[in-house]
Amino acid sequence: MADQSAPQDGTAKAWSGRFSEPVSELVKRYTASVFFDNRMAAQDIRGSLAHAKMLARQGIIGQSDLADIERGMAQIVGEIERGEFNWNLDDEDVHLNIEKRLTALVGDAGKRLHTGRSRNDQVATDVRLWLRGEIDKLAALLGAMQHALVELAAQHADTVMPGFTHMQVAQPVSFAHHLLAYVEMFARDAERLVDVRKRTNRLPLGAAALAGTSYPLDRERVARTLGFDGVCQNSLDAVSDRDFALEFSGFAAICMVHVSRLSEEIVLWMSQNFGFIDLADRYCTGSSIMPQKRNPDVAELARGKSGRVVGHLMGLITLMKGQPLAYNKDNQEDKEPLFDSADTAIDTLRIYADMMGSRVEANGEKVFNVRVKREAMQAALTQGYATATDLADYLVKKGLPFRDAHEAVALAVRAAELTGCDLPQIPLADLKAAMTHVPGAVERLAEDVFQVLTVEGSLASRDHVGGTAPNQVRAAIARARSRLA
Ligand code: ARG
Repeated sequence: MADQSAPQDGTAKAWSGRFSEPVSELVKRYTASVFFDNRMAAQDIRGSLAHAKMLARQGIIGQSDLADIERGMAQIVGEIERGEFNWNLDDEDVHLNIEKRLTALVGDAGKRLHTGRSRNDQVATDVRLWLRGEIDKLAALLGAMQHALVELAAQHADTVMPGFTHMQVAQPVSFAHHLLAYVEMFARDAERLVDVRKRTNRLPLGAAALAGTSYPLDRERVARTLGFDGVCQNSLDAVSDRDFALEFSGFAAICMVHVSRLSEEIVLWMSQNFGFIDLADRYCTGSSIMPQKRNPDVAELARGKSGRVVGHLMGLITLMKGQPLAYNKDNQEDKEPLFDSADTAIDTLRIYADMMGSRVEANGEKVFNVRVKREAMQAALTQGYATATDLADYLVKKGLPFRDAHEAVALAVRAAELTGCDLPQIPLADLKAAMTHVPGAVERLAEDVFQVLTVEGSLASRDHVGGTAPNQVRAAIARARSRLA
């Protein structure tokens, strides 16, 4: 029998009858989630209304109950919007807070809402509904991010810069080609997101606590009402697995790592040592002590924030690892990391899509926020013998085996280093002299070698899908534009 101290007037815990004393204050605080899961209030109410409608249609509750529930929920929506809703720790989570308020407003109909339902399938439904909304926001932002990068790239199919391996000058590429590499990454992120959405968009409701329910629910109808693509096929799985959240976290971690790599480049490019780009003032911050400073804080912070999103993936996957079927309270820990991953990715992509974009000035001129310093990029190519591979390829095309060509060019680079000039500046006679030890090299060198040693020649020769030749890069831009349109 219930303890005398357990009130019977509706202020009791939803499960108070079974208990002889109230939960301790510490336990109450420790187990409550209302102060973070109340951000799913809109989804909770949507789910409850769909459930109630179906219950009435199936004759499980009366039409007047449904009308009362709808009226009460409308009032609650208003209270939440106006900031008047009194979120109460005593009622543990968003679900119980709303149900309690509903019952206070409409009486018995409120108490009937939970028929054929458990908080276990309710929370799984809310999280999926909430995440679906975030996925749709992120899909749009990934489109905006790619669009910004493609439009910036479109200005720079002929802007040359060094491509790097090991952070050493490797071969010339265009700035557009470099940017399009990130477009590819974000395009794959968008594909991953489409995939995550498919598996997120399934309805758990009807699974009840874990085993299903004895009421004649119409799960398919609830799924349609809520825009789900179908219903979860196993009740134990429906209430307990959070693999859709793991997949989303994986998506978010990978996407943030892509942003982080781009951020690292922006930081490097903006440093005086590279001086490849500048960013519009509104994306930079100053130093409180060094008056000359303009720092790329957005890029640095995005790079830093990728850490917590990667961490959330680890946290969530570990959260699931030891859980037996079916629902365990552990699952309550899924929300904060999931919320933070979504928030961080959304904030970051929003600011980045803006920062990599352009704006139209008062005089009608379109100005890009990333200001490219072409001369600095070009000048960086005069260091590091960026066309050495082109020289080797030249010899190979004249019949020298590649390994011998590689050796011949290595000797030429050494000679160039000693004289302190770049390969195109070495007179033909000196080039030949440098290669005399490699049989077959000297007689294959002719005046036409200087065409391939230019940066433009190097770029133009990489003329295949995925190569940096300007016409290929323009074709890639056209493909990306039509894909994003
Ligand atoms: N607040 C809980 C969560 O986030 C809701 C489900 C609780 N169910 C239960 N039987 N304790 O997972």
